[in-house]
Amino acid sequence: MKIKKAVIPAAGLGTRVLPATKAIPKEMFPIVDKPAIQYIVEEAARSGIEDILIITSRGKSEIEDHFDRCPELEAKLKAGGSAKADLYSQVVDVTALANITYVRQMEQKGLGHAVLQAKKFIGNEPFAVMYGDDVIIGEDPCIAQLIRAYESTGLGGAVGIKEVAADQISKYSSMKTENLKDNIYKISDMIEKPAPGEEFSLFSILGRCVLPAEIFDILENIPYGAGGELQLTDAMKILAQRDGFAGVDFTGTRYDMGDKLGILKASVEVGLSHPEIGADFKEYIKEIAKNF
Ligand code: UTP
Repeated sequence: MKIKKAVIPAAGLGTRVLPATKAIPKEMFPIVDKPAIQYIVEEAARSGIEDILIITSRGKSEIEDHFDRCPELEAKLKAGGSAKADLYSQVVDVTALANITYVRQMEQKGLGHAVLQAKKFIGNEPFAVMYGDDVIIGEDPCIAQLIRAYESTGLGGAVGIKEVAADQISKYSSMKTENLKDNIYKISDMIEKPAPGEEFSLFSILGRCVLPAEIFDILENIPYGAGGELQLTDAMKILAQRDGFAGVDFTGTRYDMGDKLGILKASVEVGLSHPEIGADFKEYIKEIAKNF
């Protein structure tokens, strides 16, 4: 079954980047000139996703405004003629990337609870999950890599994985892996936020999954886990133990937009290759680096 639907959980409180997230969703933080969530929606569109459900919460209505038409602005840019034509199409094109709908997660009870809000929207088909604060930039869109692995391995689901530093693994999830071919692994077990010594490997899920609709029944029946939150990893673990999951050590660079250093890295790296300001920015970086 072709994967045409994606869920973007974007309802989290973003406490790691307070006070910035008090009134501005981290998913709307700009990377040079586009908000983080636009990169994610573009990745979905490039991967053949047609319908997107964004899970939002109180104070996140800017996300809806960003993907909506804006007649006053459009009229102003149109009146600016050819000088503003590029900006006009950028402002309009973003509204046509996919069919986007929204649902609110009323209480922030974790990623698993956020995904559970998509049960009605998904129905009975496999779907993609793209974490709203994980921007992944690369030639081959990350979620397309996972969809291909899901289809070609026939396993129960697929997750994007990367190795993390040994002293960081307790903040992430840890995967039990067996290499199948190149960058594709079979995952037969997983654990969320392992205590020291509990980890299976340094491979952790980062930002993207493909899941069967069965995940919803599991999420409805498992207890709350690490941090008192309903953990998506706990639900995936049950399917991975039973059917195996594909793990894709994906190509592309991931930026954690819910983390101070991640936000800076994204701006610097995307800025350096930006067609309009890249060359000037490089000179600037070289100049200030002289004093480091
Ligand atoms: P994170 O754990 O990175 O987000 O979840 P958070 O809870 O906002 O982070 P901190 O620890 O407080 O800084 C990954 C993604 O899942 C969403 C977040 O918005 C983020 O995009 N999420 C998380 C929800 O939608 N609902 C939740 O209850 C938790």
